[in-house]
Amino acid sequence: SELLLLNGPNLGILGRREPEIYGTATLADIEKSVAAEVAPRNWRVVPVQRESEGELIHAIQDHHDSVGAIVNPGALMIAGWSLRDALAAYPRPWMEVHLSNVWAREAFRHESVLAPLAAGVIVGLGALGYVLAARALLEVVPD
Ligand code: DQA
Repeated sequence: SELLLLNGPNLGILGRREPEIYGTATLADIEKSVAAEVAPRNWRVVPVQRESEGELIHAIQDHHDSVGAIVNPGALMIAGWSLRDALAAYPRPWMEVHLSNVWAREAFRHESVLAPLAAGVIVGLGALGYVLAARALLEVVPD
């Protein structure tokens, strides 16, 4: 089974992207820790990071038969309406993750157009948030 690990714009440069906000872990580090978390269940992580909304949508469509997904949409949280539609059509549970505590930041980050569709949302816990999202999916996805 495949677990889709989807990261949006500007998340491929984690580690050197405003580390005081997003931490020093790289996306490769995060992908590794998520893979380790779900390996006992024989889930294989399919990591996809793209800068553009359309390519993220393609990834969701291409992996509609995955067991679930972890999604950090980056700034597409704010107005990613077509990404939202793609996730609405995605038939499996998915978790929204933000490394930073978006509510402690600028007002334009206080609302996610995607979050109402998520099985759960984790914010502010840095790279650990992805691992906790994986753990939550292990709980909510039946065998
Ligand atoms: C982010 C929060 C977003 O507001 C921002 O645009 C990002 C990263 C996070 O992980 O904290 O790109 O999704």
